[in-house]
Amino acid sequence: MNVEVYLTSSVVSEEDVRGRTVIVIDVLRTSSTITAALKNGARAVVPVADAEEAGKIASNLDQSSYLLGGERGGEPIEGYHHGNSPLEYTPEVVSGKTIILNTTNGTRAISLARSAEHLIVGSFLNADRVVTFALEAGLDVTIICAGWRHRVALEDTLSAGLILYRLWNGKEPGLVSDAAHIAFTQYQNDKDNLQTTLSRCNHAQWLASRGFEEDVKFCFNINALPVLPYFKQSRLIMLHEPKSTGQSSSSPGNGQ
Ligand code: MLT
Repeated sequence: MNVEVYLTSSVVSEEDVRGRTVIVIDVLRTSSTITAALKNGARAVVPVADAEEAGKIASNLDQSSYLLGGERGGEPIEGYHHGNSPLEYTPEVVSGKTIILNTTNGTRAISLARSAEHLIVGSFLNADRVVTFALEAGLDVTIICAGWRHRVALEDTLSAGLILYRLWNGKEPGLVSDAAHIAFTQYQNDKDNLQTTLSRCNHAQWLASRGFEEDVKFCFNINALPVLPYFKQSRLIMLHEPKSTGQSSSSPGNGQ
């Protein structure tokens, strides 16, 4: 299985994702928010690239069926129901709703990967679930880190590194791409002090300075929400685990 890693999403093209399992990672906070919303009973999350797309989608839906969520520069967007804090998306808030999510880096990175064979959303919260799916799908893998402010974000790199570490059973399989090597070795280097390293990440520090420390703590919980957001028909739905009776693999057809 070939694995490619993009440490930011700025250079990803359609060719980089076609025919592959693509894992989009935006630990702070889009991936974590999507995972929490689906785990808490949202019907679907529709990731959009900008406010115009969000408005178009909302205008075709019954007002009681959706919530607009997201941020620009980390701050809630005027007129939206919610920001981009995973802690806002509680069962009471999201149950049965479609969330139209518009974020600065995360939903844009997801939009770039729409033509992947399988497009899934990963983070610390669901790392092992992502790995299980990628192994079962058996395709080459592309990991796209959203990054922050057009730069590498250490929390995304470390989350990619954790996924690689589990995919490769803790051992780099010969010659891999430079970015995959960087993510893997960074995780290997920091894994025994992971929470300390994560707390010094620039984006984590910035969020904490804006009063979002609880979000940061939540997003750094490894395997706390073992569910899989899967992109199907322009929206992310929760892909259920295969039933233990007879079925041997997760099928995208099992989604919803
Ligand atoms: C993003 O997409 O840029 C992030 O999720 C920003 C954030 O909410 O901190």
